[in-house]
Formats: sequence, C-alpha cells, structure tokens
Amino acid sequence: MKKLRLTFPLLIALAGAPAFGQTGAPAAPPTLMREHAEREAFIDDLMKRMTVDEKIGQLRLLSVPAGANPDKPRLIAEIRDGKVGAIFNTVTPKDIRVLQDAAMQSRLKIPLFFAYDVIHGQRTIFPIGLGLASTWNLDAIRKVGRISAIEASADGLDVTWSPMVDISRDPRWGRNSEGFGEDTYLTSRMGAELVKAYQGDDPTAPGSILAVVKHFAAYGAIEGGRDYNSVDMSLQRLYQDYLPPYKAALDAGAAGVMIALNALNGVPATADKWLLQDVLRKQWGFKGITISDHGAILEMIRHGVAADGRDAARLAITAGADMSMSDSIYGENLRPLLDEGRISVADIDRAARDVLRVKYDLGLFRDAYRHIGPPENDPPDVNAESRLHRADAREVARESLVLLKNEGKVLPLKKQGAIAVVGPLAKSQRDVMGNWSAAGRPEQAVSVYQGIADAVAGKASLLYAKGANVTDDPEIVKYLNLYEQDVEVDPRPPQQLIEEAVQAARQADVVVAVVGESQGMAHEASSRTDIVIPESQARLLKALKAAGKPLVVVLMNGRPLSLVWENENADAMLETWFAGTEGGNAIADVLFGDYNPSGKLPMTFPRSVGQIPLYYNHLNTGRPFDPEHPDKYTSRYFDAPNGPLFPFGYGLSYTTFSVSDVTLSAPTMPRGGKVQASVTVRNTGDRDGATVVQLYIQDPVASISRPVKELKHFQKIALKAGESRKVVFDIDENDLSFFNAQLRYGAEPGLFNVYVGLDSQDVKQASFTLR
Ligand code: BGC
Repeated sequence: MKKLRLTFPLLIALAGAPAFGQTGAPAAPPTLMREHAEREAFIDDLMKRMTVDEKIGQLRLLSVPAGANPDKPRLIAEIRDGKVGAIFNTVTPKDIRVLQDAAMQSRLKIPLFFAYDVIHGQRTIFPIGLGLASTWNLDAIRKVGRISAIEASADGLDVTWSPMVDISRDPRWGRNSEGFGEDTYLTSRMGAELVKAYQGDDPTAPGSILAVVKHFAAYGAIEGGRDYNSVDMSLQRLYQDYLPPYKAALDAGAAGVMIALNALNGVPATADKWLLQDVLRKQWGFKGITISDHGAILEMIRHGVAADGRDAARLAITAGADMSMSDSIYGENLRPLLDEGRISVADIDRAARDVLRVKYDLGLFRDAYRHIGPPENDPPDVNAESRLHRADAREVARESLVLLKNEGKVLPLKKQGAIAVVGPLAKSQRDVMGNWSAAGRPEQAVSVYQGIADAVAGKASLLYAKGANVTDDPEIVKYLNLYEQDVEVDPRPPQQLIEEAVQAARQADVVVAVVGESQGMAHEASSRTDIVIPESQARLLKALKAAGKPLVVVLMNGRPLSLVWENENADAMLETWFAGTEGGNAIADVLFGDYNPSGKLPMTFPRSVGQIPLYYNHLNTGRPFDPEHPDKYTSRYFDAPNGPLFPFGYGLSYTTFSVSDVTLSAPTMPRGGKVQASVTVRNTGDRDGATVVQLYIQDPVASISRPVKELKHFQKIALKAGESRKVVFDIDENDLSFFNAQLRYGAEPGLFNVYVGLDSQDVKQASFTLR
C-alpha cells in the first residue's frame, strides 16, 4: 500500500518526465537474479565478438509471408551474413526451419526469432478481442492464451504481437475489434492474463511464446476515429486511463512493446524519447525489447519530424526503438549515421542487447530449433483437423455473445417448424473468424447457417436466402477488396435479393437475420464515419419486418453499432462480434438455449455517431443533464437523448437476476486498510445462468474532477434457477487512487460512493469515508 502512496518528484514538467514510478512488480527471486547475471555475461561475451554490422543486423525485423517471396536467395544470403535479426509472417515449421538453418550458417550462429500476429488464436480462431472482453471471464482468457501459445509454438513461432490493449472510446475506429474496449480496468485484466497465459511459467518451455504488447501509446485515441491520425491528450487522462493497460501487461511479464504509429501530443511515438525512455525504461523499469510498427520509422518523414530516411533512423534509434519492422531503414542508415558521428555505438549496442536478451530468454541460444523441431516431426498437414481445439473455441465463443434484446422471450428458439436464415453474413466462413485470423482457415470455420443446420438437423426445416450484399456501394466493395477478397458480391439486383428473403420469411415461423459488417470493415485502415448497419442490409431488415414474422437479428461486427431502428423493430438481438472457428455452433447454442447467454458489453453502444465519444466513466460537468428535471442550459443534445442505446457492462440472459442493496463492512477505511462491499445476487428466473457482478467507485469531491463512476472489480458467477449467492469485493486504497493535477498518484481523503450492479447504469449505491 505504501508503494501506491509514493510521493513523486515535484517539478515534473521541468524534468520533462511525469512521474509514474510504481512498477507494481515484485522483486526478482534469487534464482532469477542469477539467471539474469548469467544472461548478461553471455550477452557481454557475444557482443564483444560481434561487428557493428552484425549488431545492426540484429535490429532488422523482416516480413516473410510464405510462398510470396521471389527474393528468397537474397534473403537467405542476408541471413547468412548476419544481417537479419528476426522474421515475422512465416508460419510453418518447414518454412521457418529453412530460415533458421541460414542463421545457423552465419559467422556467430545467432538464431533468428519468429513472430506473428497471433491475436485471437493461431490455427483455432477464438472470438475477436471485443468478444473475448465480453466474456468478462479471466479463465476463458487464460484458455485462449494457452491454446494460442501451444498452437503457435507448434508452428515454430516464438513471439506474438499481442495483446493489443489500446483503450478506445470511438466506435468509428476499425481496430476496436482487436482490443478489449473502452475500460482501463477490464482491458488491464484481460491483457495481463493473456500475457501470462502466452508466456507460461517458463518462456523457454515448449508451448510458450513471448508477448509483445501494443500499440504504445494511446493509439486508440486517434482523432475522429480515423486510423493513423494524431492523438492529443492531457497527461492526467493518459496516465489515468490510457497507460495502465500497457503497464499491466509489462508487470505481467510481457517481453516486448510495439510502438504506436500515431503521434502523441505532437511527437510520433517512434521518436518519443519521453515515452520510450523516461516512462517505459526509467519509470516502469522495462528491460525488454521495443519494436517499431510496420514502416513507422520512415513514416516520420511524413509526420514532419524527419528530413529523410537517415534522419528518421537517427530519431528512432536514439529515441529507443530497438527493431525496425519490415523495412531496410536501419540496415541502410545506421552504419552511415555512426560513421558521420550522428549516433553512437552505445545506441546500437543498447538496442542489440535488447534483441539478444529476448533470444536468450526464449532459450534460442541453447536450442535454435526449440519450437521448430526436427523435420521428421513436421506435421504432415499443418491444417489438419487434429491440430484444432474446437471444443475450447466453442466454449469461449458462446461466452462472448451478448444478448441485447429478447422481447416476449422469442429466444431461445424451438428446434421445430421452419426457420428462415437470411443475410449476407449467414453463410460466411471467412467473416465469422474476424480479422487478424492468423493461420486460421475459413473452410474450417463454422458459419451461422451451418451451426443452425447442425443444431436442428432432423427436427426443423431451414430456408436460406442471402437477402442483400454486405454493401451496395461499389466504391466500398473495391476498397474492402483491395488487399484481400473481403466481400463477395451477388450480382443480382438488390430488390431481387430482398424479395427472395421475404419469400423465405413468409414460409417460415421465425426469421434469423445475420447482418452487420464484413470482417474487413472492422480492421486496420477500416474507419467509418457512420456506425449503422449498411444501407443494403438495413433495407433487408425493414422488408423482413414487414413480412410480419418474429425477427431475430444476429449481429456480426467489430465495433459498437448504432442500432436504434433494429432495437425498436427486432424481437431479439444477439451481438456475436466475430466469434471464431466455432462461431456458428456457439451462436446456435445460444439461439436454441443449449447455452444461456452471459456476455456483457465492453464498450458503450451509442444511439448515433454524433454522440461519440460516449463512454460510461465520463466527468460530470458543471451542468449535468438531469433527465428527471430536464432543463435548457445543461450539458445535453436537444435533438436526441444523451445516454447510450446500450451501456457499458450490459447484457441479458434467458433468466433474470436480482441484486440486493450494498452492505459495507465499515463506514470508514483507514489508510492502508480495506472495506468489503457485498451484495446478494439471486437468480430469479427459471433457468440456470451466469452474470457479471460489477463494482464501480466514484470520488465525488476531489482535487480534480473525477469520473461519475469507474469499474474497479467484477466477478462472473453462475447461479442455478432460484439460487442466491453473496458476492464480496475487497476495496483498497489503490481502488480510490488517481493521478492528480501534479501527476501524483494516491487517494484523497473523504467520501467515496460504491456502486454495484449488473451493468454500468443499473446499480445500487453505498458510501464510505477514507480517513
Ligand atoms: C499493425 C500491427 C501489426 C503489424 C504486423 C501493423 O500494420 O499496426 O498491429 O502487429 O502490422 O503485422
């Protein structure tokens, strides 16, 4: 507790480095210290034998996609010459071995490490980040991390560019899909668990890979939600809301940090000494590797801080960017910069040491083939069914689904009669996997249609119609299909597609419409100015509604959508994000009640794009709008309500739960002490089910304005029908602490409000005082 009350150095602004000193990491045990000493001695010895060019070689990280490499002989020669440090995008033991063999023929035989974007699975694809966050279940996250690491290491990989923990309050940004949403606490917990699960207790053990947390820092706060745009943010907000998830991942042991593409307060992160040295190294004590993002060093020319490539390389290496991703900028420029005296050997040494340390920690100096194995162990078919973890994927996927509406208990559906399954995403195996789907194969993914068909086989009849294309806008189709085939267009006229779907609806007892975004619409470089369901599909939904049959909307999307019409007109709505390899089965499990939904939203769903940014933990303002006593000169829109369509933390179940009043163990908390908050949660319905009990805290009077509430704890609990359980939360001083105007971290004495409920709006309140 003392640690959290550290008094940070004053004159922070003068020092140019805001204080953010607590590492939270326990001191290393003696064995680890010995290992570190051995590691440093090993690296000292190796560094002495390395030429400057070999050191520079270690800083080059190249993308080598399998099969797309006409220049392979040149690449092999470069590796043999010690001019390459690591490779990403090569993903099978056979392909990886060829490259490692070349490294073993280099003068000093320094092994390469192999990385990949294993974001939500390697071969078995789990739900996208937003879906994983919707589980609010750390056991599920651990499972995803372990299986990802097992599958990735079996493919010869050592490192993943994950977790992505960029906080975002802007649904327009396509990369929301990759992260865990808007909340600092939830994101920190998820990211830290993933790191621990990837890396295991021993990163050199088979089945472990190292984690590189990204994108440092505050990429999720880009202006207007337009990808790669600038970020401008107060230091209070940066420290309080945006930095903690990166730090939580590092405290959990993440080996590396990927540097963000954006500029933060005018400085591109790749050139930001303050971020990369003062915050990361000095204040947080980080000892691992930093990786520039794809082409980011060269991009500093267009950011307007570097005159040319050489200047950009100088800025990056002196700021502390160890490896340059996917370009030749370090290879071409570091030597001349050194010869010209514009950088020092120490700059190169520092970066090279960081790379070698990662290789040491991976155990690659002991066995360069530790994950690759001998050729006779190569899987005969890397895509073999036997390499997948389907049961686990289905379990996690069903927990990621969020029931948004269920009027008249239209769900769960009965496995009988005729069901019309319509919509452009219903039969898509590619979309259900979501973006960044690593080595996952669409043909192994279960579409929603297939999942439903298997669930009702022999019991109900199915009708199918595509009903609409994902979008009718040819320019958008062209954009989405630029680098990969994202959307397939049915050339028939839109009206004909709709009529076919309406016919199917007329013959059915219920309609399941699978609509939303293609996976490519919620991706990198996929920002939108509106967040509605595309027009072609909205028209389909209206026609289906007019057909008069119960309408179940199954949503696939990678960002919060504005669903006002859908919420008014659909009988039921199920948010499924992109649920992964087993998505279709998981969705069918929920639609037919074989699994009772328990997911909760990790991001606020606005009513319209005009409300953005809309997030639950906002400040109150001096003129808060009071819906009970609406008045003019208050902080409000006059053309729409202030509030969201669905709040953070929201999600329904097929059963109902009640939450008792909050009981506190004491009316006051002494410094360094605790207060326990407890509620009794009862399953008041007639089905077993699970829910997430959420605890929020507010500091209503402080030296700076504090949010109306902030998530500080949660527990996911399963209750049988009629069962009740006491849920107890320990609140300590850390839960009350924040960065004040001087960026000093600590709790201020006075009253605190505690809110407990099943979403961020529907809560019960109690209060206590910190002495
Ligand atoms: C993305 C990173 C990713 C990298 C390598 C970049 O475009 O911003 O998140 O890890 O590519 O694929």
